Amino acid sequence: MNYENLLTSIDNGILTITINRPDKLNALNKKTVEEMGVAMKDAKANAEVKAIIITGAGQKSFVAGADIAEFIGRSVEQGKIIAQAGQNIFKEIENCPKPVIAAVNGFALGGGCELSMACHLRVASDNAKFGQPEVNLGLIAGYGGTQRLIQYIGKTKAMELHMTGDMLNAEQALNLGLVNYVVPQDQLIPKCLELLAKIRSKSPRAIMGVINSVNAYFETGVDGFNTEIEEFANCFATEDFKEGTSAFIEKRKANFTGK
Ligand code: COA
Repeated sequence: MNYENLLTSIDNGILTITINRPDKLNALNKKTVEEMGVAMKDAKANAEVKAIIITGAGQKSFVAGADIAEFIGRSVEQGKIIAQAGQNIFKEIENCPKPVIAAVNGFALGGGCELSMACHLRVASDNAKFGQPEVNLGLIAGYGGTQRLIQYIGKTKAMELHMTGDMLNAEQALNLGLVNYVVPQDQLIPKCLELLAKIRSKSPRAIMGVINSVNAYFETGVDGFNTEIEEFANCFATEDFKEGTSAFIEKRKANFTGK
């Protein structure tokens, strides 16, 4: 599939989606958000894709936010449509049954910070910067940032970042629990591949259960403990569970198929 603002490649089951507007620091314009939606739908449907890495083109920026130029002159009604569309696509990422890692290679501001937070894991290069600077524009986060940042760093720091627009450097983001690892830029994709290799050696069916159950904690109107019971119980009917337990008993490495 050819996109205007995304580069995609599949290698050994891993789909890499690169947001490719480096002259605009990979800012998310409407077209890019729409293309992300298509790319995620394709990724879910494509059996060849086992895991996804989302990153930005160049060495300076992951995504420097929603495209500010496109926001100028918008009405309240249009604002709702913009935020809803962004939130829908980021929820697709968050609820993707296949593991999704953000490889944060620089600025992750506004919609970029929000995009990284919608991914299951975040690996940052040491030049990465995270923030929700929308207040500088007389705006607030609209793609889930007010809801997700709290989940990662707690209300105290989340409130501060949203109210001041300050940025966190990679080390601060690591210490606050916003990112999983910080590595030199040339180690960014290798670290993501290393993590994915470990995850992919486990049962894809069980990984899906983990994603659904952990996400359920944060969903309104859903009892996450019940979701966990369902997901736990469903594992008993899978080939992967039979394989995992047989391999343990037989003292050999499990060979999971995701069935
Ligand atoms: N939307 C649209 N364009 C953006 C953008 C955004 N969110 N972020 C950066 N750009 C564009 C700049 O306008 C500039 O384009 P130009 O060369 O055509 O003028 C280009 O990307 C490079 O950005 P620049 O500001 O010159 O780089 P910098 O290194 O001086 O500063 C940032 C980097 C990230 C600090 C700065 O670009 C910035 O503050 N961006 C906006 C961040 C933001 O508020 N995000 C939330 C949006 S809701």
